[in-house]
Amino acid sequence: MTFRDELTKRTEEVQKTVYQYLPEENGYQKTLLEAMNYSMMAGGKRLRPLLMQETYRLFGGNSQVVEPFMAAMEMIHTHSLIHDDLPAMDDDEYRRGRKTTHIVYGEAMAILAGDGLLNLAYETASKGFEMEPCNPAVGKAMAVLAKKTGITGMIGGQSVDVQQSGNPLDRGMLDFIYRLKTSALIEGSMMIGAILAGASEEETAQIEQVASDVGLAFQIQDDILDITSSSQVLGKPVNSDEKNHKTTYVTMEGLEKARRDVEEISERAIHTLDQLNRENPFLRRLILELVTREK
Ligand code: IPE
Ligand code: IPE
Ligand code: MG
Ligand code: MG
Ligand code: MG
Repeated sequence: MTFRDELTKRTEEVQKTVYQYLPEENGYQKTLLEAMNYSMMAGGKRLRPLLMQETYRLFGGNSQVVEPFMAAMEMIHTHSLIHDDLPAMDDDEYRRGRKTTHIVYGEAMAILAGDGLLNLAYETASKGFEMEPCNPAVGKAMAVLAKKTGITGMIGGQSVDVQQSGNPLDRGMLDFIYRLKTSALIEGSMMIGAILAGASEEETAQIEQVASDVGLAFQIQDDILDITSSSQVLGKPVNSDEKNHKTTYVTMEGLEKARRDVEEISERAIHTLDQLNRENPFLRRLILELVTREK
């Protein structure tokens, strides 16, 4: 099987797991539930739960306790996208190949759908306690999930990102924004995989480092694609950053350097991963393939 075929197969499996935890659309709040599922079921690469599962496997994890955490992380990520697209933030009309949630359901319902997914994420992850009540790793994983989403993670990063829209940034602030708004959820994903599989604190810290670089390269590539790709391929608008007068890695360093740095940062991630002396060839290849991703 080629890597591409394997990726498709594993992504479908991850998606099935995520879907198991989505709400049924009934009751007086049916519209809210539809709006939540609308974005969750629109596709997407499912990269974060995939990275979580593969890191879990890297450290020899073999139970189902990782599954509610995989679903939870995709819910948090999708919440971040619904809110990122709102008129008050990036004001974008397409996401995952569809009209954005606020265009279809209105702004109030999109805000609530994002909130609903964020909260359902913790409710879902807490099922890990029922599955393995005596496993102390579940509580640790829960803490990482909350921290990497919050004020020192994704939400903190988004706050500086929107606040600085239209302002020139220095490299230190740009790095800060990228590490928080994008790396944090990828760090959380890989750390939770490691923790649930019983990795040591030192190994978990090393995985955090790998994920931090994966996230940084991922966001730089996202900035590159915002300029070089098409909305058809991306499933979201191009030139969103220019429209919002964002300083990005590309506006700061230029396209060529940005491309080289995506490669260099990804190689650094692989180098750190290899130092763990654990084998997961699929995970290794996945990180390398992200360098040339087209969407
Ligand atoms: C988009 O994330 C937001 C960024 C952090 C750049 P993805 O590119 O992973 O979006 P989906 O999940 O595939 O839609
Ligand atoms: C957003 O970065 C990162 C999030 C936390 C959602 P962008 O604003 O560049 O993401 P896209 O390009 O809209 O997916
Ligand atoms: Mg944004
Ligand atoms: Mg955006
Ligand atoms: Mg972008």
